[in-house]
Amino acid sequence: MSIKYKVNTPVSAEQFIELLQESTLGERRPIDDRDCMEGVVKNSNLMVSAWDGEKLIGIARSMTDFHYACYLSDLAVHKKYQKIGVGKKLQIITQEQLGPKCRLILVAAPAANSYYEHIGFTNNKRCWVLEPPVEGKNKMAQRFGVQRCKKILSL
Ligand SMILES: CC(C)(COP(=O)(O)OP(=O)(O)OC[C@H]1O[C@@H](n2cnc3c(N)ncnc32)[C@H](O)[C@@H]1OP(=O)(O)O)[C@@H](O)C(=O)NCCC(=O)NCCS
Repeated sequence: MSIKYKVNTPVSAEQFIELLQESTLGERRPIDDRDCMEGVVKNSNLMVSAWDGEKLIGIARSMTDFHYACYLSDLAVHKKYQKIGVGKKLQIITQEQLGPKCRLILVAAPAANSYYEHIGFTNNKRCWVLEPPVEGKNKMAQRFGVQRCKKILSL
């Protein structure tokens, strides 16, 4: 089997969605939201992909400044190609594109939690996620009160 790896080669929303489905990551991503999926592939600035001929079989999709932080948002390998080193290779190539002080950061899917420890990531209990606003209201403002929030954000 000859797998080719490419950096920032175009990937369509359809190809991306199909891979998410075939890897099982689709269960945890808004694959039915077309706008979102198109925005996702269009606005990533580091996308390493794995191909078997014309077929997309793996992806590492990141947003990065290339110097300090690289957020690896989606790592997915087609079910038929898992556990043969594709995921690891996608991350190695991702890292090769980054400066020497740049770290990879991600939120693991539950099934992949032990995977990252296995390949050398360290767990950080101080990693925090702010969910998007609900019905046009800012959750931070809802929780802390608008005045306090304005103060925190120096508005
Ligand atoms: C998680 C995933 C990206 C791993 O990719 P992969 O190509 O199958 O993994 P690799 O072949 O690079 O595995 C490297 C090593 O990790 C091990 N490994 C693979 N999946 C693992 C898992 N889920 N848990 C623990 N270890 C795992 C492999 O056995 C291998 O071990 P070795 O180096 O000792 O031989 C892939 O299985 C996948 O797409 N899963 C579904 C989607 C998902 O959960 N993505 C992660 C989102 S955060």
